Amino acid sequence: MIPKKLAQAINEQIKNEMESAYIYLSMAAYFHSQSLDGMAHWMRCQAHEETIHAMKFMDHLTDRNEKVTLLNLAQLKTQWSSPAEAWKDAYAHEQFITSKINDLTTIARQEKDYQSEPMLAWFTSEQIEEEATSSKIAGELEMVGDSKTALLMLDRELAARVFPAGSPFDPAAYAQAT
Ligand code: FEO
Repeated sequence: MIPKKLAQAINEQIKNEMESAYIYLSMAAYFHSQSLDGMAHWMRCQAHEETIHAMKFMDHLTDRNEKVTLLNLAQLKTQWSSPAEAWKDAYAHEQFITSKINDLTTIARQEKDYQSEPMLAWFTSEQIEEEATSSKIAGELEMVGDSKTALLMLDRELAARVFPAGSPFDPAAYAQAT
């Protein structure tokens, strides 16, 4: 059993993580429209990672004998005025997710649900990395300014991110499946 208050908050967090995937796919679509395919690729990899986060929360509820309730996703932003604005939003979104993980940890402690602590500690560490990465790239975009050359160099650098094996967000995966 898991305290009801915490189970409800985890259901909300499953939605937040799936929305994160959707936000990053929306950004991928924007970057593709700007011919920044490296950034689009990076965002697709990130979308995959966010679905894994959602699954970790789902499995935690299932393992605790609690039924998962999937909630509606919000209509998300679909257009940005510049790549720099999109990356700034990505960083702000990760800060929002960190605040949600902190809230979950607070609830788990208030409810004395010690069994959730290892899972939440994993997310706490993960958010350090998530914020650091998006903050670094957002900062680099600020430095790039109006330089198209620097923007393309950064785009190529971000194209090097590797999909987890068999990722459905990787064009190679659906090429194999058809
Ligand atoms: Fe699931 Fe990017 O935090």
